[in-house]
Amino acid sequence: MQICRHFVSQLIRSVALLAIFSTVAVQAAEKRDLIIDTDPGADDVVALLLALASPQELNVMAITTVAGNVRIDKTSRNARLAREWAGREEVPVYAGAGKPLVRTPIYAENIHGKEGLPGVQVHEPKNPLAKGNAVQYLIDTLGRAAPHSITIAMLGPQTNLALALIQAPEITQGIKEVVVMGGAHFNGGNITPVAEFNLYADPDAAKVVLASGVKLTYVPLDVTHKILTSDQRIKQIEGLNNEAGKLVSSILNEYVKADMVHYGLPGGPVHDASVIAWLLKPELFSGKLINVVVDNREGPGFGQTIADWYDTMSQPKNVFWVENGDAQGFFNLLTERLARLK
Ligand code: BDR
Ligand code: CA
Repeated sequence: MQICRHFVSQLIRSVALLAIFSTVAVQAAEKRDLIIDTDPGADDVVALLLALASPQELNVMAITTVAGNVRIDKTSRNARLAREWAGREEVPVYAGAGKPLVRTPIYAENIHGKEGLPGVQVHEPKNPLAKGNAVQYLIDTLGRAAPHSITIAMLGPQTNLALALIQAPEITQGIKEVVVMGGAHFNGGNITPVAEFNLYADPDAAKVVLASGVKLTYVPLDVTHKILTSDQRIKQIEGLNNEAGKLVSSILNEYVKADMVHYGLPGGPVHDASVIAWLLKPELFSGKLINVVVDNREGPGFGQTIADWYDTMSQPKNVFWVENGDAQGFFNLLTERLARLK
């Protein structure tokens, strides 16, 4: 009887241990290798903090910077600031393209301020950029990566990845998927009536990425304009009483003003952070696989994403187009993750 009881308790212990180890194994297997390509930018910094506060799910291998919201020296400084604020100095930051493939550079200082970071004081971060260029880093890293193992979050103009793909088209072998903040269909544009800023800033680059055949998800204005701040949502972040909460609430309070006035919205979008939320909790979003074409011809359609939502043209489906999202779910996630930072 004694032996039997001992055997049963041993069995229960083994089963419990097996369950714990298999859960850990599943969690480890689900951790995503991620490169964040970005032009910080207020919402880029919020996206970087969200990603860097989520090490259980995201292995941020590097941050690569591009000119966009402001010049490359400032986007690179702001990326290093985000890394410093997140206490993640081990993540390398590589500077990349200082101008688009073909068109003349444009910036968005009217929205993001002269320094690219509204609402906060910027300083020169303690740690420098990584040696080497972002484009070369992408070529080397994706070229030698395990097949289809690395995700790229594209939070700015797609110039760096386009340059890497032009020089070394074989690097698609290392790419698991590319998740782009960009494009607009139902919502209309934010830099012209039809174009969204990141696509308008370098439509030729977006075309190269689209033509490469990599798995693509677009998180366009259609969804980011449904995920809006409110006084209460920003207060909740401020109320975290940590440095990250203070920084993000100050940035957002200033950043959302222009969009609220321009669109008559009750709050403002935090575009780029939705890409990271999509990677962390895709169940917060919905969309579908459709055909997307980018217009890079001079004229009123320059930079437009022509998104065939109803499959009118019966063309091959090349983009998962995210169309809706759970706004409160997004802000709960952001607040919960920012609470983990200092
Ligand atoms: C996009 O443009 C930039 O200004 C933002 O950072 C975001 O990536 C929104 O249109
Ligand atoms: Ca951006």
